[in-house]
Amino acid sequence: MTEAFSIGIAGLGTVGVGVVKILQTHADMIAERAGRPIKIVSVTAGNKNKDRGVDISGYDWADSLDNMAQDTRLDAVIEMIGGSEGPVKGMIENALSTGKHVVTANKALLAHHGVALAKLAEENNVTIAYEAAIAGGIPVVKTLREGLSANKVQNIYGILNGTCNYILSDMRETGRDFEVVLKEAQDLGYAEADPSFDVDGIDAAHKLALLGALAFGVEPDFKGLNIEGIRAVGFDDIKYATELGYRIKLLGMASHNDQGYMQTMEPCLVPINSALGSVESVFNAVMMDGDYVDKVMMEGRGAGEGPTASSVVADIIDLAKGNGLPVFSVATNKLKSVDWQSFEDVESCFYLHLKVKDEKGVLAGITACLDKENISVDNFIQRGHDSNGTASIIIETHATNAIAINSAIVDIEALGNVQGKAISMRIEKL
Ligand code: HSE
Repeated sequence: MTEAFSIGIAGLGTVGVGVVKILQTHADMIAERAGRPIKIVSVTAGNKNKDRGVDISGYDWADSLDNMAQDTRLDAVIEMIGGSEGPVKGMIENALSTGKHVVTANKALLAHHGVALAKLAEENNVTIAYEAAIAGGIPVVKTLREGLSANKVQNIYGILNGTCNYILSDMRETGRDFEVVLKEAQDLGYAEADPSFDVDGIDAAHKLALLGALAFGVEPDFKGLNIEGIRAVGFDDIKYATELGYRIKLLGMASHNDQGYMQTMEPCLVPINSALGSVESVFNAVMMDGDYVDKVMMEGRGAGEGPTASSVVADIIDLAKGNGLPVFSVATNKLKSVDWQSFEDVESCFYLHLKVKDEKGVLAGITACLDKENISVDNFIQRGHDSNGTASIIIETHATNAIAINSAIVDIEALGNVQGKAISMRIEKL
């Protein structure tokens, strides 16, 4: 058999250990598929002596990230640490500059610095492989970059954060509100102690920025993304959405059409019986449509040791076979730098939830505000009222856009009998 493909693994947390396990247990099968053995030459992590439940005694211990990056025996460095700045970024730059491929699950790093790192990789005839960075075990990078490469991709829809999807599913199943479910998820170790990256939509937005780049041949632009998380979604909204035939999902959307390039990450209503509506709990899903292939949908686990390590090892096998591809589908000098537009003027139906004093004239006032913006009502529910005489009014609109909805909301919130802030969410009929 030909010479081994030699790697160093930086980071022996859940995913790093998962990578070691797969490479050990499937060594022969992987060598056949790669056409050569994969050899772990060195590893490194914060604590050398910790028992990780996997035998690493046969590998060198690199004393620093830079020592690993500069190790001339290595063909690739497998970065399993994470973080968009600091020593990890430096190590990746160092590895690329010294002619090593990099495999990573680090979406934050690539969403912020992907273009510069891709250029550095090109200059050194190597690449950065990152299947595990987007939707964990779902092979969506390979699908977009290779399987769908004959198509002009028009739309991408993604449920890209398992923590958010778990929280929204659990709220619906147990009738509990966001804060209660989040606290339980943290106590059980399903959600991070600092949950903001997940629940505020940032982690999912990193992934969406990368998907947009891959799909449309443009530079990833995390800063140009509209991002809303799920903190404002109440159990009531989930209940009313269900009455109307919808599930609420944190949905990433990117599209390229005659109106230009658009991307947004926000909670949306999707039909219960649609493909994305039935993606529950920690599962992720990506739906794409191309001009020749039509719709393609993939669902699977977006996090965890096995699924994420599965994608990392698939990347290592590809590199060992010599299948290093341009980081964002095309060479960096072909990547377009585009002005991303928001979805504000994109037509869709909307869900509105208003809390009102249950008294004469309320509906007339609300419908007048909607009428002023040419918004037509498709469906309507009134539920209430509570001991304070407060009722909930739920409106599903016909097609309009966020500009009209937001301006109607300003007028509605100024009505004397409407209480607090209106909740509005886009309805994606998919
Ligand atoms: N924290 C992410 C999730 C997985 O909950 O889906 C890693 O991006």
